Amino acid sequence: MSSLTDVDFEHTGPGCSAGVLLRRFWQPVFVSEELKVAHPVPLKILGEELTLYRGEDNVAHIVEGRCPHRGLVLSVGKVEGDSIRCRYHGWQFDASGQCVEQPFEPKCFSSKVRLRSYPVEEYFGLIWAYLGPDPAPPLPRWPGLERYGYFHVVEQRKWNYFHDLENTVDDVHQRWVHAEGIYQDAGNAGEIPASAARATDYGLMQYTSFPSGYLRKLALFMPNMLYFNSGAGVLRGFKSFLWNVPIDDVSHKMFFIFIATHLSPEEGRNVAEGVRAGLRYVETLPTVENVVDSVLSGRMRWEDVDSRPDLVLIEDGIVLKGQGVIPDRSKNRLGSSDAAIILLRKLYAREIARIERGEPPAVFSVPDESILSQIDEFQPEPA
Ligand code: FES
Ligand SMILES: [Fe+2]
Repeated sequence: MSSLTDVDFEHTGPGCSAGVLLRRFWQPVFVSEELKVAHPVPLKILGEELTLYRGEDNVAHIVEGRCPHRGLVLSVGKVEGDSIRCRYHGWQFDASGQCVEQPFEPKCFSSKVRLRSYPVEEYFGLIWAYLGPDPAPPLPRWPGLERYGYFHVVEQRKWNYFHDLENTVDDVHQRWVHAEGIYQDAGNAGEIPASAARATDYGLMQYTSFPSGYLRKLALFMPNMLYFNSGAGVLRGFKSFLWNVPIDDVSHKMFFIFIATHLSPEEGRNVAEGVRAGLRYVETLPTVENVVDSVLSGRMRWEDVDSRPDLVLIEDGIVLKGQGVIPDRSKNRLGSSDAAIILLRKLYAREIARIERGEPPAVFSVPDESILSQIDEFQPEPA
């Protein structure tokens, strides 16, 4: 294996090793209820321009972003049945991407024209896409969780996805970045808890034991899915999932699902609706991006950022974008408290080396409920 400082974690476009790795797994790409019938939208995932649309039969489809005739984006196209028609000269493509009509071509060559298209599924209120080679693996399913109330948070971040991946396995930052976070909530803001990380079959697990008895656990399912017990405030008790999905190399989307398994299904649905109302209120505030940029440019002090329901995204945004949009990790001076970060980089380095040798990923677990239960039941050995 090459040195960790030589590994390209950050680039995920077609042909990049980390991109090949991420394409082997289903990725959430959109919120189901936001995709209306016959209202196509542009979508960019892993550096690929795509078109997402819901046919008149209510089924979601993903095809290439641009018409191969003269390059108009198909997101301004017209949905007809489960097909999409380009607005410029009327070429029509079925849901598999096959061109089926070229209205002004006397010698139609539509059989020779085909868009890339990708498998799409909908589950837990999200639209999922698989951009890798056939066959697609099964989409993870959690039938035991389906009856509970849940809500999503989706946030676009204008820096490389790998920052957020590292940050989510970095529990130490909670103490410094999130003054109202789990360290306060666990009742020992002044104490340093015991934290450890270990490699697992599916990726890594990181846990932090607080003297109050609270145990925060976080599992990374390679390459970019997190499962954790939420720590603080209104989120305490929710089963929490997060995918950091690259849009391109300088931006990504965070897709969270918070599931209220600690409440009855009805109570959980009520709480989730209350949170959704709070999120609608957040949309009336200055954007996270604006506040982050105000602090990073020196126009505003960290201490002057107003408290708000999504404060944690602002706090993380400042320390993540503040490292640079694509930082130079070779200059990092890592310590023992970075154990989970080092493990994460080693896992990526191992998988990327396998890809470069033409081998399949070593880690390929579907994060089903049996694995989630193992994590829920995990207790560290007493120190
Ligand atoms: S650009 Fe699409 S039909 Fe001409
Ligand atoms: Fe954070």
